Amino acid sequence: MAGPHPLLVLLLIVAAAVESGRATATPAGCAAPADSSSTLRVLHAFGPCSPFHSTSASWEDTVLDLLSSDDSRLLYLTSLKTARRSFVPIAPGRQLLQTPTYVVRARLGSPPQPLLLALDTSSDVAWLPCSGCSGCPSSSAAPPFDTSRSTTYRPVRCGAPPCSQVPNPSCPAGATACGFNLTYGSSSLLAGLAQDSLSLASDVVPGYTFGCIQKAAGPSVPPHGLLGLGRGPLSFLSQTKSLYASTFSYCLPSFKSLNFSGTLRLGPAGQPKTIKTTQLRSSPRRSSLYFVDLVGIRVGRKVVDIPPAAIAFDAATGAGTIFDSGTMFTRLVAPAYAALRDEFRRQVRGAGNATSLGGFDTCYQGSIAAPAITFMFAGMNMTLPADNYLIHSTAGSLTCLAMAAAPDNVNSVLNVIASMQQMNHRVLFDAASGRLGVARELCTV
Ligand SMILES: *[C@@H]1O[C@H](CO)[C@@H](O)[C@H](O)[C@H]1NC(C)=O
Ligand SMILES: *[C@@H]1O[C@H](CO)[C@@H](O)[C@H](O)[C@H]1NC(C)=O
Ligand SMILES: *[C@@H]1O[C@H](CO)[C@@H](O)[C@H](O)[C@H]1NC(C)=O
Ligand SMILES: *[C@@H]1O[C@H](CO)[C@@H](O)[C@H](O)[C@H]1NC(C)=O
Repeated sequence: MAGPHPLLVLLLIVAAAVESGRATATPAGCAAPADSSSTLRVLHAFGPCSPFHSTSASWEDTVLDLLSSDDSRLLYLTSLKTARRSFVPIAPGRQLLQTPTYVVRARLGSPPQPLLLALDTSSDVAWLPCSGCSGCPSSSAAPPFDTSRSTTYRPVRCGAPPCSQVPNPSCPAGATACGFNLTYGSSSLLAGLAQDSLSLASDVVPGYTFGCIQKAAGPSVPPHGLLGLGRGPLSFLSQTKSLYASTFSYCLPSFKSLNFSGTLRLGPAGQPKTIKTTQLRSSPRRSSLYFVDLVGIRVGRKVVDIPPAAIAFDAATGAGTIFDSGTMFTRLVAPAYAALRDEFRRQVRGAGNATSLGGFDTCYQGSIAAPAITFMFAGMNMTLPADNYLIHSTAGSLTCLAMAAAPDNVNSVLNVIASMQQMNHRVLFDAASGRLGVARELCTV
């Protein structure tokens, strides 16, 4: 299909901005406020102002793509297991190829080079394509980091502590820097461990440790980097503990507004004072993830009947519910989703039988009077506005419940509260006091 499909525009209209002075011009209407203090603008990676925006896919294709990216992400989240005591600053290859949903602007090196990094609350790793990388996708909007132009760039020596913590490190004869291979399905990456000054908003993190991708082979290596906001001991949060006290929050922009961008706020300063919170839980099985206690789901006034085992947190097995920025649509384990969906269908009266669209199994012609959906966490109820759980097409005038069961091929024990359900909320991750907060916030510019 040629040209932007109107449905695509409807679904994916999100404000985004490309840093002025970048190689590419900012698309018309895409100006956005600059980052300031410790607050960064959050951009939707597929929004029309994003350099990664595609105008060649139909709305349906895009949704299906995003759902199938979610499938592989679920597989990844399910596979996250810490098998050894030491925690790794660099991810297994599986972590590298997830489709990012939101990106922030960062600068690396001296003088600073602009970068786009995808937000990922379920990963501890930071990595990015570096100059001279063979097989990395080239994008003028997101050029690789040019190590030779930075006076503060330092490869991590063989034998230095971080080097021993990456998976399969290697120091071939004559090499001074440690490298490691990452694989994912048929894709593989070779990265070197390095350190340089990372600037986010107006803060600088000197000597930040990251993976510098030097070689890539495979179908889906993204052109931008990754900012892992997970909570493992050597993650971004750990590396910046003195600066940000293991605290950040974000407001993810809606898919529907053009001039609209959210924010990532790092550190305790400027966080909401009054916000409903629930206790964060952690599992040694999946140490990066932000677990919360989901105790029930309400549809309209009715608390649906979910088998307790489907939502129970279990530190030992890594089962439970997480908040994740990298999955687009909430996925529930099958019995929990079935209970929610059946009650939802019961309450959507007079709209005929539900049909399906791609991975969504509860779609209706025309607009519907939908019941509210509330996630009940220990000590905090999160009632979703309709925009957070209904997705509309225009031409087909279909309205779908924008959640799904975990895919069949994923034996998932994880319920994932995904980005669509978090949009237009301030979500506070306070790992220092072990709580996660949610407050409604229209992050409209
Ligand atoms: C977006 O915001 C910029 C700056 O505020 C403005 O110039 C532009 O016209 C806006 N675009 C749209 C489509 O509203
Ligand atoms: C990575 O894998 C390639 C191909 O299997 C191999 O030749 C190379 O030595 C490996 N490099 C490292 C750093 O492990
Ligand atoms: C709706 O579904 C019910 C139960 O499967 C079926 O009996 C009925 O014929 C369907 N109605 C329409 C209009 O398709
Ligand atoms: C959440 O909603 C349930 C059911 O309506 C109610 O019983 C409970 O007290 C609420 N919890 C909080 C923390 O408001």
